[in-house]
Amino acid sequence: MSHSYSDGRSLNESSNTSFGEILEARLSRRGLLKGAAALATASALPLSGCASTAAPREAKPGFRVISTSTADAVRVPEGYAANVLYAWGDPVGHPSGSPAFRADAGNSADEQALQAGMHHDGIHYFPLPYGSQNSGGGLLVMNHEYTDDGLLHTDGFANWSAEKVRKAQNAHGCSVIEVRERGGRWNVVRPSPFARRITASTPMRIGGPAAGHALMKTAADPAGMTVLGTFNNCAHGYTPWGSYLTCEENWDTYFANSGTLTADHRRNGITAKGRGYRWEEFDGRFDAGKHPNEPNRHGWVVEFDPYDPQSQPVKRTALGRFSHEGAWTATANDGRLVVYMGDDRRFEYIYKFVSRDAWNRSDRKANAGILDHGTLYVAKFNDDGSGGWIPLVHGQGRLTAANGFADQGDVLIRTRAAADAAGATKMDRPEWIAVHPQTMEVYCTLTNNSQRGGKDKAGTDRANPRANNVFGQIIRWREAGNDPAGLSFEWDLFAVAGDPQHPEEARRGNIKGDAYGSPDGLWFDDSGLLWIQTDVSAGTINKNHYARLGHNQMLAADIRSGETRRFLTGPAGCEVTGVVMTPDARTMFVNIQHPGEAPKGRNDPQNPKAHSSWPDGAAGGRPRSATVVIRRNDGGIIGS
Ligand code: FEO
Ligand code: CA
Ligand code: CA
Repeated sequence: MSHSYSDGRSLNESSNTSFGEILEARLSRRGLLKGAAALATASALPLSGCASTAAPREAKPGFRVISTSTADAVRVPEGYAANVLYAWGDPVGHPSGSPAFRADAGNSADEQALQAGMHHDGIHYFPLPYGSQNSGGGLLVMNHEYTDDGLLHTDGFANWSAEKVRKAQNAHGCSVIEVRERGGRWNVVRPSPFARRITASTPMRIGGPAAGHALMKTAADPAGMTVLGTFNNCAHGYTPWGSYLTCEENWDTYFANSGTLTADHRRNGITAKGRGYRWEEFDGRFDAGKHPNEPNRHGWVVEFDPYDPQSQPVKRTALGRFSHEGAWTATANDGRLVVYMGDDRRFEYIYKFVSRDAWNRSDRKANAGILDHGTLYVAKFNDDGSGGWIPLVHGQGRLTAANGFADQGDVLIRTRAAADAAGATKMDRPEWIAVHPQTMEVYCTLTNNSQRGGKDKAGTDRANPRANNVFGQIIRWREAGNDPAGLSFEWDLFAVAGDPQHPEEARRGNIKGDAYGSPDGLWFDDSGLLWIQTDVSAGTINKNHYARLGHNQMLAADIRSGETRRFLTGPAGCEVTGVVMTPDARTMFVNIQHPGEAPKGRNDPQNPKAHSSWPDGAAGGRPRSATVVIRRNDGGIIGS
């Protein structure tokens, strides 16, 4: 996770490598998943045998593949064009003003609050008006995951000040922009009544079982009900009622601790010195020694309504607190909402939330509390190809007062500790999750884990089959009864990533077609084509194990044949993350994050174009993350 300046150590020291007792009891009660069929699923590890029973409709990638790349450019197949739409510093289009980007990074903190944040990540297209299928105009909502202060300020960390901290905070969070297509060209509408920036200081309400909990109270918020801001928003999700979910991933890296680290601080990665964002120097709440509960107010999924620019975002504590990668929804057979979520750290877990109530299809506003009531589960992947969901409910299993869990709010605030106690499976860094639009099969990228099988670390298992796993894999599962609310599932590995020419057999993987490593972004289009985006860290790209795989990329996979085809390659040092299409599938939006990321630490403000000058090239002052619009020159369906 070089991208968030963490030291990469795993934080999970629990010894829960054996069966979760609760789950074991339930599985044996139901007599689930025994015999040859389940074993065959597990042994299909070098893929092929898809667990699908229902054939998805035609979803074959039809474009001409492109080669790997070391060019400082976005490359797409012949017959396609990619154009930059919205780069860091571009005005969001807020009615109060549209300050232009200054190529020397000279914009003020206040100007940054009216401009695109840095490091674009998860993205979704909401057609305008709500409920329409308009493919020619809508809202693009996206995350700005983190900042490189070497590029954000003209002189980087020199003369560090309250203004610089405020600018950094304003470069985090989310953008809501209105976009419109005319004659095949897309533009940002400025001004727009929908335009909005959400930042690391936007006030937001705390909802769900941890609202008002003693562990959520701080000097600035004695009620424990309101928190300032969201940051390190990695991937995302959206609900069927048109709200956006933004997910707080490496939030711990923004805290330092001048006092004593609590067990929870340690379990979540907070250190005495912090990870170099230096917010605590001018914003005291980021010193967890002085404000030990402030970290408890971060690490959540935040919901807001992009169609209502006045709406206040809400942190949905029922969905648990960890390094949330994203939050992907599916509707259960009985109408309840299911949210799949990964905790992206080495040896952390995959979760799902099932709402208590069915969501309301006729009155979107009636769904405001759906994500506040329900059950959070954590996944156990058994070596025989079976799996199950363990409820994290206070009073059940080991989650009792006798074991140190005071109440449900405490279970949710200390989600990782609860999942440790429940005996969940330690995964190789769960990133994005995608639910197939027809079969409801669920896919999840496990990006890599170089510490798997290392000293004092968990060893390999069927779901995480390689020690020193530098390439990652994609796991998939089918819920019991094909119901997203099912409490057990069957799983297999869709793909084991690697380089087919690698001298070590274990690192060759089994990808059919174009090779990749470190899968991260993952998305099904409506036809069922699986889009895979990669996040090889800047210190690793084109070197050692990755010498033959080029820059980060996006590929499309036919899940029936397993064939994978390379569709896009990114500029130097970038990560390709975030993808969505308009409902007619004729426009695709892709985010290019941190072009020119320094192999180690932040960029040098004296030489901001040392690693990339994308997208502005020679005329520009520094590389900028950006949303790219991809169209076919003939206006056809993307990917077909
Ligand atoms: Fe921000 Fe797990 O990627
Ligand atoms: Ca990611
Ligand atoms: Ca990643």
